[in-house]
Amino acid sequence: MSRKLRFGLSIRLLLFLIPVSIGALVVNSVIQGMYAERGVERAMTRLLMYKSEDLTRHIDNQWSLLLENGLQNDPAYTESLRRSVRTYAATMLRSDGEWIIAFDEDGIVQISVGARIPDSGIPEDFSAIVEGEVWLNEVIAGEPRVGYGFFLPSLGWSVFITDIKKSYYGDIALLRWNSIIMIALTTVLAAVFVIVFINRSLKPLRDIISDMNGIMVNRDFSQRVKPVQNDEIGELAREFNLMSDYLEKAMSRLKSIAHMEAEARIEIRDRERETLNVLSLISDHKDPETARHTTRVGLYAALLSELRGDSREEVDLMRWAAPLHDIGKVGIPDAILMQSTSLSEDQQKIMKTHVLIGHSVLKNSKSPILRAGADIALSHHERWNGSGYPSGPKGTDITIRGRITGLADVFDALTTVRPYKEAWPFEQAMDWIRDNRDILFDPEIIDLFLQESGRVEQILNENSDDSPEEARYSALT
Ligand SMILES: [Fe+2]
Ligand SMILES: [Fe+2]
Repeated sequence: MSRKLRFGLSIRLLLFLIPVSIGALVVNSVIQGMYAERGVERAMTRLLMYKSEDLTRHIDNQWSLLLENGLQNDPAYTESLRRSVRTYAATMLRSDGEWIIAFDEDGIVQISVGARIPDSGIPEDFSAIVEGEVWLNEVIAGEPRVGYGFFLPSLGWSVFITDIKKSYYGDIALLRWNSIIMIALTTVLAAVFVIVFINRSLKPLRDIISDMNGIMVNRDFSQRVKPVQNDEIGELAREFNLMSDYLEKAMSRLKSIAHMEAEARIEIRDRERETLNVLSLISDHKDPETARHTTRVGLYAALLSELRGDSREEVDLMRWAAPLHDIGKVGIPDAILMQSTSLSEDQQKIMKTHVLIGHSVLKNSKSPILRAGADIALSHHERWNGSGYPSGPKGTDITIRGRITGLADVFDALTTVRPYKEAWPFEQAMDWIRDNRDILFDPEIIDLFLQESGRVEQILNENSDDSPEEARYSALT
């Protein structure tokens, strides 16, 4: 994260700063170059004009002397004048590339001075040059030159003073190269400066962000970041610390609420189980035949649910809902419940209504356990082959909770004493259950029951009707 932050800001700043600085330098260089060029041009023009005026004045003086003495047509004196002009012109040269050349009216060279005049003679390029004007870029003998041409009325000559362009403008080209080098150096230095500056400036921010990350990842809002600088970064740290204060208090409140909620849930669960226990006790006491019947049916049902691979919640629900299967017997007259002889057909009809009564009293509860109890109360006398009551569905049309509790109920009736029979030995009861596999009971459940017969027997032995009363409640919890 900090790496992205570092280069992100550096690049954004460079993308802004470098074009701006390069643009400013380029504009400055161009303007400076223009001013320098104009200055050189002005100085060069003045120098050329000065030289032309100086040479004109010298020649005019010489020519006036010849005129005053009537020697203007004497070849010896005119030749002497030409030599004098050549000598004077040679003293005016200031560089190796400078020439002073004069042509007469026929285009014949009268004087030519200069260190680098070509051996092949004076180039004819001068014929295209207009006299009376300063030229800035004429290629003569293959070389760019500057110069000035003027007419000398006294001798009828066209005189040209010229120098190679580089003599005047060479420094300007150097100036341009210097500007390019300066721009490149400035750009590199600015980039290095920005990167170093950003890195140094952002280090406190990166440190703070690292501390913030540690706090957020560990959710330890008791920790604080250190506002090491009294600037925007320090302000950010202080704001984060304020937020941490708030979050720490909020987390503390949430933990407290969660703790109280967990305690409340445990208390509600314990009270619900206590209530269910009371209901089971009522059922047991209403039906004197069954003593701890409901306890064992709950444990057998939970065992079968566990062996089926049901969830922990479903197993727990079966443990507490199955004991409610006969809760409807509270609606059966005592005379029928307590009768020790066989029930008449009408009495049997009345007795069978306990499944409907149990379902009726439990079905509208908001408690999942009680609603499961309603299902179990209604279906625990249904049988796999459809011979059960009250509705007679077959196979898997009977709810799984009804099939499990039906088996647990019958098995417990077989293995405990009833007014009309003795308790069957464990093995005899298991044989009878096995014989009714796929007839009265779900074969899949029977197989699990038989496979884990050791655990079934353990429940029977540990929760016999003559075991201590306190064992009953512990078995249920
Ligand atoms: Fe029953
Ligand atoms: Fe029962």
